[in-house]
Amino acid sequence: MGTSHHDAARSGTFSIGGALSVNRLGFGAMRITGKGVWGPPADHDEAIRTLRRLPELGVNFIDTSDAYGPDVSEWLIREALHPYPQGFVIATKGGLTRSGPDIWRPVGRPEYLLQQVHKSLRNLGVEQIDLWQLHRIDPKVPADEQFDAIRSMIDQKLIRHAGLSQVSIAEIAVASQFFDVATVQNRYNLVDRTSEDVLDHCAAQGIGFIPWFPLAAGDLAKPGSILDTMSGKYGAHPGQIALAWILKRSPVMLPIPGTSKVAHLEQNVAAVDIPLSDDDAAALDEEGRKAFHAAS
Ligand SMILES: NC(=O)c1ccc[n+]([C@@H]2O[C@H](COP(=O)([O-])OP(=O)(O)OC[C@H]3O[C@@H](n4cnc5c(N)ncnc54)[C@H](OP(=O)(O)O)[C@@H]3O)[C@@H](O)[C@H]2O)c1
Repeated sequence: MGTSHHDAARSGTFSIGGALSVNRLGFGAMRITGKGVWGPPADHDEAIRTLRRLPELGVNFIDTSDAYGPDVSEWLIREALHPYPQGFVIATKGGLTRSGPDIWRPVGRPEYLLQQVHKSLRNLGVEQIDLWQLHRIDPKVPADEQFDAIRSMIDQKLIRHAGLSQVSIAEIAVASQFFDVATVQNRYNLVDRTSEDVLDHCAAQGIGFIPWFPLAAGDLAKPGSILDTMSGKYGAHPGQIALAWILKRSPVMLPIPGTSKVAHLEQNVAAVDIPLSDDDAAALDEEGRKAFHAAS
């Protein structure tokens, strides 16, 4: 499938918290940092070009975190896109600390979460964060304290909507007693169906489901994956079929494939125009579930 003239708007829209409308195919900004999600990217100018291509391709939903770099991803988003185009929604996160490449440790103390929200506001150059997600619930801190801190950040208008990441249905239910859970960001792709029940719950509740790892870190974009047959049939790359399938899986699905390269971004956005049939989507679904159960 070619990569010019595609528009993420054709992935359909979803209204975050019933208020912020975004085109469903978004962008994950973790990969515009250095190796191990640490420090600056290998190619700063290409990262900036990739970010600037987003509005041209109709992508108006970016997912980032204070922990990506750390800070580097938020700085680059600001450098490339501030002042942000009308209707652009930036979701960030807090609650994971970084002390080296590939090291991620949760800290959910309310004063730390508040500090990080203030830092993200400054990093992104905004007065209010559209969507702030608790990157992980810290098991060392009572969950109520973390959820109460989020409630208070909403009350102070530091953040507009709040979401959670890597959570169960039970955790969503507890958090919902403190604030409206607008989105849930869990690992999910064709061959990782651990969060299938959470996805169904989100669909029933109108909660946006943000599947991270939609391309299984690129594995699903490589030749030889279970997507090969279908990609031949549609004249598409395997990764594009993975994205077309995930978009079709549920209307609350907001995939955020991550890349540091313009060419890959264009390829990913082109997935919105793959006319994946119901039968082919069902066949992929079955194959994906089989692969998942075989691996687990
Ligand atoms: N909530 C969480 O705990 C959590 C955890 C991880 C990630 N996330 C979020 O989810 C987003 C997506 O996850 P992810 O980046 O881990 O996985 P992903 O989107 O499944 O895969 C990204 C990888 O695939 C490669 N890639 C992307 N498009 C490609 C294409 N068209 N052809 C070939 N390779 C391609 C990228 O490399 P190139 O740069 O070379 O294109 C990158 O290494 C992140 O950016 C982040 O915003 C959240």
